[in-house]
Amino acid sequence: MILNQEEVSKTRAIEELVELARQARTHAHAPFSHFQVGAVVECSDGRVFTGCNVENSSYGLSLCAERVAIFKAISEGARDFTRIAVIADTHLHGPVRPCGACRQVISDLFGSEAEVIMADLQGQIETQMVKELLPAPFDRSFL
Ligand code: THU
Repeated sequence: MILNQEEVSKTRAIEELVELARQARTHAHAPFSHFQVGAVVECSDGRVFTGCNVENSSYGLSLCAERVAIFKAISEGARDFTRIAVIADTHLHGPVRPCGACRQVISDLFGSEAEVIMADLQGQIETQMVKELLPAPFDRSFL
């Protein structure tokens, strides 16, 4: 059976994406916050790109796991994104939520209908659409 690009990405289980994000989290460089985060973005052709948070002694230069994964993907020529998964150890509060800056970047590059998968290390998983996490975004239509 030959699958089209959309079908290729839909065949990957959410749990598989969460597992890739969990593995990426083990590379987190978080000596200041000690809050380790992993992420993975999935493209419509089935490719995946992982990322972890990378902190810096000049704190403001730190990058979230989501943006590391997204910028890695962009730099490899990927453009058509379907889903993003993010994971951290947030068991007391439910699955981790992307920060505001990452929501803006995700919204700009994935579009409002894409799925954001949020997980914790205990196996809790929640899914929301980008437009639920960032209603009324700034986008290219304003430029
Ligand atoms: N962080 C992420 O990587 N992604 C999120 O969704 C939330 C926050 C990182 C940034 C920083 O390195 C650490 O978590 C604490 O804020």
